[in-house]
Amino acid sequence: MMSCRAAWCYPAGMAGQEARPPGGVADMTGLARTLVIACLSIAGTAAAQEAAAQEADLARGEYLARIMDCGGCHTRGVLVGRPDPDLYLAGSDVGFHLPGLGYFYPPNLTPDPESGLGNWSDEDIIRAVREGVRPDGRMLAPVMPWGSYSVLTDEDARALAAFLRSLPPREFPDEPVPVADGDEPEAPYLEIVMPQN
Ligand code: HEC
Repeated sequence: MMSCRAAWCYPAGMAGQEARPPGGVADMTGLARTLVIACLSIAGTAAAQEAAAQEADLARGEYLARIMDCGGCHTRGVLVGRPDPDLYLAGSDVGFHLPGLGYFYPPNLTPDPESGLGNWSDEDIIRAVREGVRPDGRMLAPVMPWGSYSVLTDEDARALAAFLRSLPPREFPDEPVPVADGDEPEAPYLEIVMPQN
């Protein structure tokens, strides 16, 4: 936000001093009062501009999440043709079996601190999306299309992370965890079949 410390923002003789508390405005000369009011309205405009920029970022993030189809995997019910709009991006209880790799379930991307991304920083989210690396260092299975997302610009990555943070937090009590091939999967999965003749 724009600061009001510029010399012209202070009435003559006040430059370099701290601004007076609002009660003091009534005691000032007409010129001083005009300057203070002008300064406050500039600060107000800057705040409004910042809010508008944040709103534009969220709209961009929402748009990106749509066209990058995050919801096509990370929304409950979507992989069996019954998406639950109330659980948009709150994780899927149907996963993917990648032969030779294991069973992977699209996790909860809402800011729930237990099962979602509530304790992830923006940088953690951006790294997972663009590089396929979780904060604990584990590589994400390539069914999460981070290879394609690796070209996301910094600006778009930040907007996407801001949008995920703005989602209503949703719990996912028995969220299935990934298991290695050969182990018993915790929940249903779609079988990925390698190309064959
Ligand atoms: C084709 C399905 C698919 C799409 C599309 C997809 N993801 Fe994923 N995503 C997954 C799967 C499956 C995992 C879990 C992989 C694993 O555990 O190794 C995952 C993992 C993640 C993780 C790591 C979360 C965690 O708790 O470990 C993040 C963050 C993530 N995806 C964000 C996104 C975002 C944001 C989008 C859209 C821009 C997106 N994903 C699109 C399938 C998908």
